[in-house]
Amino acid sequence: MRVTIVGPGYVGLPSAVVFAGLGHHVFLLGNIPEQVERLQKGEIHLHEPGLAESFRDLVREGKIVPTLSYADAIPSADVVVIAVGTPSGKYGEADLRYVFAAVRDLAEHLSDYTVVAMKSTVPVGTAEKVREIISAVILSSPPPLAGPRWKRWAKDLDSSPPKADQNDRPITFDVASCPEFLREGTALFDTKNPDRIVIGVTSDKARDLLLELHQELPGERVVTDPKSAECIKYASNAFLATKISFINEIANICEGVGADVTEVARGMGLDSRIGSKFLKAGLGWSGSCFPKDVRALHHIAFSNNYEPQILKAAIEVNNDQRRRLVAKLHAALGGDLQGKTIAILGLAFKPHTDDIRESAAIDLIYLLQQKGAHVRVHDPVARPDDRDVFKDVRFMDSAQDAVRDADAVVIATEWPEFKELDWRALRAIVRNPFIADGRNLLDPKLMRAAGWKYASVGRP
Ligand code: UDX
Repeated sequence: MRVTIVGPGYVGLPSAVVFAGLGHHVFLLGNIPEQVERLQKGEIHLHEPGLAESFRDLVREGKIVPTLSYADAIPSADVVVIAVGTPSGKYGEADLRYVFAAVRDLAEHLSDYTVVAMKSTVPVGTAEKVREIISAVILSSPPPLAGPRWKRWAKDLDSSPPKADQNDRPITFDVASCPEFLREGTALFDTKNPDRIVIGVTSDKARDLLLELHQELPGERVVTDPKSAECIKYASNAFLATKISFINEIANICEGVGADVTEVARGMGLDSRIGSKFLKAGLGWSGSCFPKDVRALHHIAFSNNYEPQILKAAIEVNNDQRRRLVAKLHAALGGDLQGKTIAILGLAFKPHTDDIRESAAIDLIYLLQQKGAHVRVHDPVARPDDRDVFKDVRFMDSAQDAVRDADAVVIATEWPEFKELDWRALRAIVRNPFIADGRNLLDPKLMRAAGWKYASVGRP
């Protein structure tokens, strides 16, 4: 099957590798010339375990063809997968400008029947809008792209499409919702081993093509309508984010009563109705999906005259986790952070990625700077970008350099290498041995034995 993936990012790249690995021919459409040039050499621009090697091999074998050209990548495609970003807009709504731009561009190059499958996380009803955009582009194009019989069909999509002929070629298409549930850091594994494959379609033809595309992959198939598929994605992310906020609330209660949240989570998680995953207390959720998707669902609810109380509380608890950690530092340093040097270990929103979107570390930097603290950061992989919050931050090449002479240390990302550090030796070079472990990464007993005043989240 011929698949074109629009958007060579954190979702598009692993999808390209997995589909090409299954034997499909993949075009990968980008819109940044320098980036596509690198992709054509087999080099990727982001950190994701295992991805670089597989991508390089598949490009060399000609199984993935990165390109800037819609004219090359669209006409032959059986399925076009949209995997471009949908960042948060001004009011928390998903900003669909990249989706719509890609759709307008691809519509001009459709030839035979094509399924346009949305993998980007988009508001409920977007598949319908995409269908309208593509129809409008085709309707405004001269024959042979859209002859009169096709135009009659496009105005009345419920009638059967006209048969193709040389002079009056009908361009028929379907728009489907096919959300992606991969996690960064384990993107390839997740894409190859999905729990379920959600296919939101309005026609049997689109259903059959998408089932064929995913044929070799494991997981239950959920074939439904596009709106329900779009909603499944938001509801899943919002549920997981709420689960994390719930355990963080329990952690905060544990701090009050002297219980250990890791024990509580273990005891809860063994109930198969609850499950043990996503019960790790800490600084809360960050990243490219949970914050923007929970905000977007919140926005969708409001736009449909419903006030989502659980989502609102989940967002508030999440914001508070960052504030509570800064309050612990404040209390530990005598109620004044002015002029104090704080070493933050971890900038990425989670380990095994270089992605810093909405990372907890950025919120901490902002809150600490507000209180007059000097901030140093070390991350094994992630690097700062040009946003203002980083202007006065010192980025250090090693954890040792960050910790030396600091007044307190914070763990913001649970990179395994931080667990392996020689904390006894670090105790000797820090000015004040206070550590706030925002990810419950380290062992409290060992840290205290190594001479640290140790605070974590919901553990005595
Ligand atoms: C998430 C969803 O898991 C995935 O299905 C969707 O496609 C995209 O969004 P991702 O953002 O890559 O994936 O990472 P995930 O592992 O889900 O973690 C998200 C955030 O939650 C991270 O900041 C992580 O540190 C935090 N988290 C996760 C917790 O604080 N506790 C947990 O128990 C799990």
